[in-house]
Amino acid sequence: MSTRNWRHVISLEDFTAEDYELVVQTTCSFREVLSRRNKKVPTLQGKVVANLFFEPSTRTRNSFELAAKRLSADTLNFAPGSSSLSKGETILDTARTFLAMGTDIMVVRHQASGVPQAIAQDMDNLGGTVGVLNAGDGKHEHPSQALLDLFTLTTYLNLNYPSASELKGKKILIVGDILHSRVARSNLYCLVTLGADVHLVAPPTLLPKEFSSYGVTIHHTLSTALEDADFIMTLRLQTERMGQFLVPSLREYHAQFGINRDRLVKCSPNVQVLHPGPVNRGVEISSDLMDDPRLSLIDKQVTNGVATRMSLLYLMGASSGDKII
Ligand code: NCD
Repeated sequence: MSTRNWRHVISLEDFTAEDYELVVQTTCSFREVLSRRNKKVPTLQGKVVANLFFEPSTRTRNSFELAAKRLSADTLNFAPGSSSLSKGETILDTARTFLAMGTDIMVVRHQASGVPQAIAQDMDNLGGTVGVLNAGDGKHEHPSQALLDLFTLTTYLNLNYPSASELKGKKILIVGDILHSRVARSNLYCLVTLGADVHLVAPPTLLPKEFSSYGVTIHHTLSTALEDADFIMTLRLQTERMGQFLVPSLREYHAQFGINRDRLVKCSPNVQVLHPGPVNRGVEISSDLMDDPRLSLIDKQVTNGVATRMSLLYLMGASSGDKII
């Protein structure tokens, strides 16, 4: 049984197998809610969820907004360009402004690692029960993405009765810009804890040796890495986080590390491909493979994001001590 305090969700580093199982089972309940004609439940009625996105986002921001609305919370949205941040207000003062308006849960994305943690610390110092969820901080972590990936993997393996324990022994290959990827870091914690056989592949410039300390196998060429893989998680080349050119050219990168149909022959016969989006079509994955519903779980990842985020907001809301259902 999960014994964690769910008030803040900043990192998956200390998540246990039981915590992951609770997320999968809770997400399953919300998947059922989303299959109804009336997709709204009163779980967070009267609560305020603020999306503080200091960095651009399509999927994650809209997915959190929809999740909060399906739970009947009131939502506030913040975008730096149109806010007082451009008048010099600090990040913590921005968060305190949302606190003063009665925000219960802050969903925070920032280009710098550590910002959601700093806001959570500040909220704790002020007393009160505000919860902070990390929606992606720099190169650090992106817990809700790894958890929706987990739900997508487990429901592929067992649609009606998914369980986090299904990942044990599955070969999962993460390919691409691992160095700059917060998605990869959160996924590593999750997949290794659940006993998956995790392999990483990228050019050495995007995959330093230190990553072997996560308990994974490192490759620098695709061919051996692909053998018998059950799932391939592709990652975007994060050119905005590369201070210098770390790959010779996008064409060359695709030639060496791009995933396409031909390359899947070495994998397990039921192999499935994932990508957190946004995708550079034809760079990390070929366009036709990305659009093939028999081989790609990319659309399912987006769909599952809403139920997964509902379950996180629910678990965080429940930890505030109020009776919420
Ligand atoms: C990722 C992110 O922003 O960290 N995307 C996402 O949240 N779906 C990955 C990326 O930007 O490549």
